[in-house]
Amino acid sequence: MVNYGKLQFQFKDSKMRIGIGADHGGYEVKEFLKDYLRTPEFELVDFGTGSTEPVDYPDYANKVCESFLKGNLDRGILICGSGLGMSMAANRHHGVRAALCHDGLSARLARRHTNANILVLGARLLGPETILDCIRNFLDTDFEGGRHERRVCKLD
Ligand code: RB5
Repeated sequence: MVNYGKLQFQFKDSKMRIGIGADHGGYEVKEFLKDYLRTPEFELVDFGTGSTEPVDYPDYANKVCESFLKGNLDRGILICGSGLGMSMAANRHHGVRAALCHDGLSARLARRHTNANILVLGARLLGPETILDCIRNFLDTDFEGGRHERRVCKLD
């Protein structure tokens, strides 16, 4: 993989706890992101899978979402081939707002307007620069609140 340098985030308080999970289609991107996010700002928890052997994406979406809903994580990242299966599985969990993003803008809006707590990526559809753009925007953007708060509340 190309070396994209280390991330520089502007967090105010303590480490952000991030859970990351992937199926076989997302395994390589997961490993790349684990390395990329190894910075003092983050505490990363890897929920698998551990290889490119075929597995079922709902199992990994469920692990990350259950941990998030227990309060053990601040955000989650899920990766499969297209991102579709992971986002469907994650959004079945009440309280999870999983956003399947395809560029930096969609990731920024996922945070600003919909307070998304899980980022979903399609490893087979996105190149490494786009993936990192999604990651940067998702992890470094705050929810705007205001009128969006009311709408997000109606989801639940
Ligand atoms: C696995 O081949 C593939 O179906 C999965 O990674 C994902 O794209 C499903 O939505």
